[in-house]
Order: sequence, then structure tokens, then C-alpha cells
Amino acid sequence: MSDFLVKRGELRECRIAESAPPALEPGQALLRVDSFGLTANNITYAVMGEAMSYWDFFPADHGWGRVPMWGFAEVERSEAEGVEVGTRIYGYLPPSSHLVVTPVKADASGFVDGSLHRAALPSAYHRYLATASDPFYREETEEMQMLLRPLFFTSFLIDDQLADEELVGRGPIVVSSASSKTAIAAAFLLAQREEVELIALTSARSAEFVESLGIYDRCFTYDTIDSLKRGPATYVDFAGDGAVRQAVHSHFGDELVHSMAVGVTHWEELGAGAGDLPGPRPAFFFAPNRVTKRSKDWGRLDFEQRVADAWQPFCEWTSGWLEPIHGEGFEAVRDAYLDVIEGRVDPRTAHVISLGD
Ligand SMILES: NC(=O)c1ccc[n+]([C@@H]2O[C@H](COP(=O)([O-])OP(=O)(O)OC[C@H]3O[C@@H](n4cnc5c(N)ncnc54)[C@H](OP(=O)(O)O)[C@@H]3O)[C@@H](O)[C@H]2O)c1
Repeated sequence: MSDFLVKRGELRECRIAESAPPALEPGQALLRVDSFGLTANNITYAVMGEAMSYWDFFPADHGWGRVPMWGFAEVERSEAEGVEVGTRIYGYLPPSSHLVVTPVKADASGFVDGSLHRAALPSAYHRYLATASDPFYREETEEMQMLLRPLFFTSFLIDDQLADEELVGRGPIVVSSASSKTAIAAAFLLAQREEVELIALTSARSAEFVESLGIYDRCFTYDTIDSLKRGPATYVDFAGDGAVRQAVHSHFGDELVHSMAVGVTHWEELGAGAGDLPGPRPAFFFAPNRVTKRSKDWGRLDFEQRVADAWQPFCEWTSGWLEPIHGEGFEAVRDAYLDVIEGRVDPRTAHVISLGD
């Protein structure tokens, strides 16, 4: 059994650890992790590891953590009823060769991991989908699914919330870390709505790329926020950068209609930006609340169908410019992790790691 471990609280420190293969108890199954994507979203799981309990999904030795990833695995051994050896699944996985799960609610669509240590954690992360019956799944788009599916799901909810709360059409929507995949997916969806003006905020090195996407109306670098036109606006924050947030709030002041805190790509700048924050208090975007609301409004199946329908055109469009960087094995996991945590990844690319057999 191999694991990629990160030192909690000292995120640049990481190591690859070897241990004995895990034993199975009755009712459990052993997943062999096959492949996963690695973007800033995974770094956010580590940054928020304590505050939002992300370290608790896949416990590790004291002081160390296994950063959650989204990807594919295969059932290697099974002592669980209804879970067949060889089933290929998609879900939330550790950067490890194997994961022991305790499947419950197993059927042709997959299963839920009912492991006791996960019981108090958000249930959205517990479901493992059998690729054979997953409406999202297409073999030829596996890489795009690993990289973009969890991000797109969030973007769908953000676009829907902004429209539902009538924030579109009340001045421009200003998006930080506009070069991130989650921001791009949200902008892709918002750009399809009438009367939406999208303003990208990004770093100088990503400005040309962001402009080339053709989904934002205008693009500004972080040091030119004071040249934005004043008036009502909504801020959707993927960067989590305190200084950028301060600059946006100070610029729009009380005319800022809403400030939505979604991500923390600038993870070392969370505490930057001093003084009182003018305008509305940032509202933390909490996906499970929107899932509950829309499942109730539309019914769970209709909700899932709407996400799946919106996904296909996005997946196709993104395949036209996104270049996966392929890595193999645990050293590739470590190299990719360090690249992403240092912000060294060109936004036209993204890491996909295969652990092989
Ligand atoms: N709340 C939720 O439910 C939810 C769900 C999904 C994603 N998110 C969040 O959305 C954010 C975007 O995730 P993603 O996976 O889409 O990101 P990504 O595509 O990997 O983002 C890459 C971009 O992020 C910025 N960046 C990344 N690392 C950086 C670093 N070390 N220093 C400075 N800038 C850095 C740069 O953008 P710029 O140069 O344009 O700033 C870079 O081009 C993450 O914080 C993620 O957690 C939240």
C-alpha cells in the first residue's frame, strides 16, 4: 500500500509512504485507485483541511493528511454484498494505491461508503458511482470528468444561484481567479444568459489566456481594479485573496450588491488586506444548501438531468483548449502537487495522474 502524505499545517512538506496491504473485514471492499485530477481545488481541501474537516475523510498518521482527489478506481476485492470485483467507479479518493470502504445502499448505480469515521462528514462526498450506469460517464472523456466534474457541479450551482437571486442584470459580475477551471465553467454558463456582463480579474501572466477564452466581456489584472467602472456589481471570489477582496469592496463600496466567497486559489493571501471591509459582508458559498434547495424545487432526478445536460457542451468546449498533463505513479503525484501549490501550472493545462496497476 502506498500513500502520498502532506504535513498538516505545513503544506509544502510531503512524502510518499509504504505500508502493508490493508486487510478486509466482512462488509468491506478494497478499491484500487486508478487515476485522478489535481487542481487548485485539491489544494483548497488541504488549506481548509482542519477548518472544514477535509482531513477526516481519509485519515493518516498523526500530523499528516491524505489530500482528497476526484477520480476513478476499481473494486479489487469485495466482502460486501452487491459490490462486484472489477466494477469501475468514480468518486472521492485518497492519493493512495488503495482505499477500504464499507459499502451500503449498493445497487447497479454504485454504493455509499458507510465507514463510521465518515458518518459526520457531508454525504455528497460518500457516493461512489459505477461507470456502467452513470449518465455522465463516457470512456473517451474520463480525463475531463476527473478534472472538471466536481468543479462544473459547483459552477452550475453558482450560475443558478446568481440567476435565482436576481443578481444577474444588476450590474456586472466580477470574477476573481478568472483563469481557474471553476470560474471558467461559471462564466461559460453565465455568458449564455441574457443581460450578463462578466468581468474577469486575473494575474498578468494569465490575462492573455483569459481574454482568449471569449466568455468574459472584459479582463483586468489585479493591479488595475481601480479602473473598473463604478456602479452596482456582484463579486464572485475564487481567489480568496484578502487584498483583492479589499480592493474590490473598497472600489464598489455600498454599490456592491453581493459578495460570494467560493474559493481560495491564492491560499497564502487569505489574511492580506487590512481595515474594515466596505459593502456587504462576503457570503460563503455552500454547495450542499443549493443542492438541497434545487432537489426540492425540481426533484432530484430533474436536477441531476439539468446538470448532465449543461455538462456535455461545456465538456466539449473545454476539450478544445484544455491540455491534460499526464503523470504516472507517486512521484508524479508529488511533482504535480508541488506545481499546483506553488501556482506554477499554466491555466491552459491541468494535471491528471495515473497510478497504474
Ligand atoms: N466552494 C465550493 O464548493 C468549491 C467547489 C469547487 C471549487 N472551489 C474552489 O474554486 C477554486 C478554483 O479551483 P480550480 O480547481 O478550478 O482551480 P485551477 O483551475 O487549478 O486554478 C488555477 C488558477 O488559480 C490561481 N492559482 C492557483 N494556484 C495559485 C497559487 N499558488 N498562487 C496564486 N494563484 C494561484 C491562478 O489564477 P489567477 O492568476 O487567475 O488568480 C491559476 O491560473 C479553488 O479554491 C476551489 O477550492 C470551491
